[in-house]
Amino acid sequence: MKSFLLVVATFFPLVHPDLLTKINKDKIPEENAVSEKEAEWRLKAIRKLWSERQSMGRTPLIRFSPRGLPNSDIFLKNETATKTRTLKHRFVWALVLWAITEGKVTSNTSAVYDSTSGNTGASEAYMCSLIGVPYVAVVADNLETEKVRQIESFGGKIMKVPVSDRNKRAKEEAKKTGGFYINQFGNAERAEEYHESGSFHYESTNVFHEILAQFEEDKLQKAKVPDYFVHSAGTGGTISSVGRYIVRYGMPTRVVLADSQYSLFYDYVINNRFTNQSGAGIWTPPGIAGIGYGYDIEPVWYGDTTSLVRHVVNEAMKMPDVATVAALHELNGRGLNVGPSTALNYLVSLYQAYKQRHSSISKRLTIVTIACDPGDFYRSTYLNSTWVDASLGKSGGMKSVKCWREVIVNAMDKGSDFLGQGLTKCYGNFQSSL
Ligand SMILES: Cc1ncc(COP(=O)(O)O)c(C=O)c1O
Repeated sequence: MKSFLLVVATFFPLVHPDLLTKINKDKIPEENAVSEKEAEWRLKAIRKLWSERQSMGRTPLIRFSPRGLPNSDIFLKNETATKTRTLKHRFVWALVLWAITEGKVTSNTSAVYDSTSGNTGASEAYMCSLIGVPYVAVVADNLETEKVRQIESFGGKIMKVPVSDRNKRAKEEAKKTGGFYINQFGNAERAEEYHESGSFHYESTNVFHEILAQFEEDKLQKAKVPDYFVHSAGTGGTISSVGRYIVRYGMPTRVVLADSQYSLFYDYVINNRFTNQSGAGIWTPPGIAGIGYGYDIEPVWYGDTTSLVRHVVNEAMKMPDVATVAALHELNGRGLNVGPSTALNYLVSLYQAYKQRHSSISKRLTIVTIACDPGDFYRSTYLNSTWVDASLGKSGGMKSVKCWREVIVNAMDKGSDFLGQGLTKCYGNFQSSL
């Protein structure tokens, strides 16, 4: 029957070919694929984003030169200096630019939806309000109130769901309401090309490009290319973006993933594990806010649940969560207003500096990492002793934090091995989780 219909359709076309091609003797087809009104809306939205980029300027680099490691500089690229106060400001700028350019977000989009642990949500709320599109953040029901407030302060709406349902619900709600699920985890890769502007006269938002430009312009900075770039992964977007840049231009910088204790990313990067199996039984809350993988019930699927590109990462390292919290308390105690993922980034950088303390690098060992978000988002959690005792009780709570803090300070002042000392001296269950 099917082949009979095919023969009939081939030899006796029901529509005249001139009608199909729309070419006839007095009319050549010419219509707007994007209506004039829509193109006008798009241009206006894109211009707003570029003027936002110009007003961002460059975030500062803060230099640490630990007394005990005299040949090393650790630079924190301070992303807390952006308008939405996190590393997500520049990423979301590129993500929204992608979504508008490719017609995913138009003047008809009812709202943009995303699953977020807060920081992306705040930047998305900001960028969406800039272009006049409503925004809904689908968040865990126990998200820090500080982060909920941030999202709302930039005009975003909040939808609270159980943590493992966030992606699913964001996708469903967008479909139901004619909105767009922007999926920061799956689409970071698509935003990638919007991070770099080639030779166009506007500078885009690639963080490593900006760091190199800052080093180049600083007459006192001798090493113009960092030896290491250290960063933790949430979506994996930032480290992959930097890694791609480094690999693409054949740069010598080594990219190091800083991972939290119970996260699956370390094994994913080093052993390609958890790509077809969930790590649901391994993840132990609270983890380190905004980073790591495991709270999602789905495996690590590149381009869907993660944007972390294994091939552009050279090394991975884990730290006990309680050690990270100790570093957080120490850095905040020194007046540095940074959050827990920054503390993890700093600890892994400090350990790299310790490992390389005798290396014969001609210039100073130069490590760059990121200050991801501010400490004041965590006053009621990671920086609150009662919360730490309750949430990290198994790792010794504040008693263990105090012990780790001492060995970390020792490492900064005397160049000692804080990891070796902490693992033997400080109470915790680090070994058993690895
Ligand atoms: C506080 C914080 N640190 C680090 C990261 C990791 O960045 P990325 O998602 O680019 O991997 C995130 C991501 O949301 C974050 O919120």
